[in-house]
Parts: sequence; structure tokens; C-alpha cells
Amino acid sequence: MVPDLHTLTVPTDELFWSTWISYGRSGSLMPAFAKTENGPLTDIQIASLAAYLNAVIPSHITNSIL
Ligand code: HEM
Repeated sequence: MVPDLHTLTVPTDELFWSTWISYGRSGSLMPAFAKTENGPLTDIQIASLAAYLNAVIPSHITNSIL
């Protein structure tokens, strides 16, 4: 099942978004979008998307250790 990105139960930040977008999860439907992973997006496009997602989907969870 494809997760609802607005209701994730893990803390999110730009690195979280760019890592998932870049590498996806092999063996699942979640694709790797980075050109280095044979995906369609450049690093700049991934950074732009990660910044956008970080701005429009605030992290719901705060890490109590920090
Ligand atoms: C730029 C577009 C996308 C973004 C930003 C994105 C983001 C994410 C993120 C952050 C997760 C991890 C969720 C978690 O921590 O629980 C995830 C997982 C997943 N995504 Fe995507 N996704 C994108 C496109 C897609 C597409 C096109 C598909 C399906 C064709 C897809 C299918 C999945 C699936 C099935 C998982 C669960 C993987 C697993 O843990 O087994 N995603 N995605």
C-alpha cells in the first residue's frame, strides 16, 4: 500500500524526503527517483522537491531525545 505522506508516524525533514525520493525502497512499489539509481530526477530537482515537501508537510512527530 502507498503511504499517506500527510500522516507519517516518523519525524520528517529535508534529508528524510530527499533520501526517500532518491533511493525509494527496493522490493516495494516505492521507486528510486535519483539519476544515480536509474531514476528520472537530478539532484537539484530532488532537493527542490524535498524542500517543497518539507514546507507543505510539517513534521508531525518531534523526537523526544532531541
Ligand atoms: C515524489 C513522489 C514520492 C514521494 C515524495 C514519496 C515518498 C515516500 C516516503 C517518504 C515513504 C516512506 C513512508 C514511511 O516512512 O512510512 C514512501 C514509501 C512508499 N512509497 Fe513513495 N513516494 C513517492 C512516490 C511513490 C510512487 C510513485 C509510488 C508507487 C508507484 C510509491 C509507493 C510507495 C510505497 C509502496 C511505499 C512503502 C514502501 C515500504 O516501506 O515498503 N511512492 N514514499
